[in-house]
Amino acid sequence: MSNDSTACSIHLMTVFMTTIFLLMQLVHAVPITAAKHNQASLSNIRTGGNLNPYPDMPRITFRRDGTFKITVFSDFHFGEGPETIWGPEQDANSTRLMRIVLPEENPDFAVINGDLITGENTFRENSTKLVDQIVAPFDEFRVPFASSHGNHDNQVNITHLEEIIRERQVSSFSYTRSAPPGVGGEGGPGNYWVPVYANEEDHYPVLILWFFDSRGGFSPGENSTSVPDWVDSTVAEWIESESTLMEEDWGPAESRGALAFVHIPPRVVQSLQSTLNHTSNPGLNEDTLGRGSTQASTQDSDAGKDEPFWNALNKYVKNLHAVISGHDHGNEWCSRETDKKVIFCFNKHSGYGGYGEYSWGFGIRNLVFTSTDPKDGVDTWIRLDGGETRAKVVLDDNYV
Ligand SMILES: *[C@@H]1O[C@H](CO)[C@@H](O)[C@H](O)[C@H]1NC(C)=O
Ligand SMILES: *[C@@H]1O[C@H](CO)[C@@H](O)[C@H](O)[C@H]1NC(C)=O
Ligand SMILES: *[C@@H]1O[C@H](CO)[C@@H](O)[C@H](O)[C@H]1NC(C)=O
Ligand SMILES: *[C@@H]1O[C@H](CO)[C@@H](O)[C@H](O)[C@H]1NC(C)=O
Ligand SMILES: *[C@@H]1O[C@H](CO)[C@@H](O)[C@H](O)[C@H]1NC(C)=O
Repeated sequence: MSNDSTACSIHLMTVFMTTIFLLMQLVHAVPITAAKHNQASLSNIRTGGNLNPYPDMPRITFRRDGTFKITVFSDFHFGEGPETIWGPEQDANSTRLMRIVLPEENPDFAVINGDLITGENTFRENSTKLVDQIVAPFDEFRVPFASSHGNHDNQVNITHLEEIIRERQVSSFSYTRSAPPGVGGEGGPGNYWVPVYANEEDHYPVLILWFFDSRGGFSPGENSTSVPDWVDSTVAEWIESESTLMEEDWGPAESRGALAFVHIPPRVVQSLQSTLNHTSNPGLNEDTLGRGSTQASTQDSDAGKDEPFWNALNKYVKNLHAVISGHDHGNEWCSRETDKKVIFCFNKHSGYGGYGEYSWGFGIRNLVFTSTDPKDGVDTWIRLDGGETRAKVVLDDNYV
């Protein structure tokens, strides 16, 4: 009896320590960069390329020919109807899509842009096991990747943080992280960035991939309540402070390019839909944007709640080639937002789970950088699992 309970508490202690260790790894960048920040501002000199949240992982780099390709998956919705034939068959189809697309596209990096799991249908005891199935193809084809999370990833039996921890536990190819404590608000830990270098040995990255957590869904456990569906205003301050660290270590923000991924589109995207033009904004437009389809749009009183994030992103992040979202499975278009002049693109519904019509198809969005110059344009298009491509545009200064 006492032996059992000792063994049990040792086991619990091990689990506890492992969890603390993992959490510390996830926020690894914080103590180091915070210390460096003080040092840099005291001595007022650059620390020279030491800002690296992934000291133990391979650097993400452009190819020798100066190109870099990202393949964006979105809205997998694994785990629908686990007790029926419907859910497992959808998941098998989504896995098949990944196993077709990854070797054929051969990307340098992949993104999963939210709603990995339909949390409503998962069980407390094994909900994050679905993460293992989702990441397996990336490991199999050795493609580094990172995830954002969506409203269906925050439910009674699952949270964004649990998915992030599981992903890092089961895949050595995952670059997904969480923000320092206090950043992101309720249910929104998934704010972080991934540096991309022109060459392995360079001191400074030429491209930053930013990931933001637009939250939504429900809080875990009994007495679950709805979670706000916008990027929290604490993220605005964090964008500013991270940008300062980057400038101190790497030089002016203008010397880097950027892309931003966030599951739920910023609310301002709603106003773009009425101005779409088939030539410059090709791609499906089957979801009418309205209540719940963009950030802070579920209730009228939430209007404007995503603006601190949106303003900070557009103020501090330079050469922002595009902001990319999922959530609305029927839309694929890109369009330039008229106030900040930034390009917004939907990605492509990749999961056979989640709402949608079979005629919309299932696929991915590719983004190809054709040079390491942060001012140069980026080619982007949609590819379906059968190989069909469409909606190709170049994201550059001429894009309208
Ligand atoms: C899975 O894919 C097959 C082949 O495209 C299709 O016939 C079937 O309906 C799909 N199943 C589900 C549940 O989406
Ligand atoms: C959550 O998990 C528990 C335990 O497996 C299960 O009884 C319940 O149906 C699940 N779903 C919800 C929405 O509570
Ligand atoms: C999770 O557990 C439920 C019942 O406890 C089972 O039906 C389901 O297949 C399990 N799912 C996974 C992914 O292991
Ligand atoms: C949930 O609400 C019930 C009724 O108010 C309460 O008795 C219970 O303690 C609450 N559970 C938790 C985990 O807060
Ligand atoms: C649509 O865009 C194309 C190319 O940007 C432009 O030439 C054309 O005039 C636009 N059409 C309308 C109706 O605005």
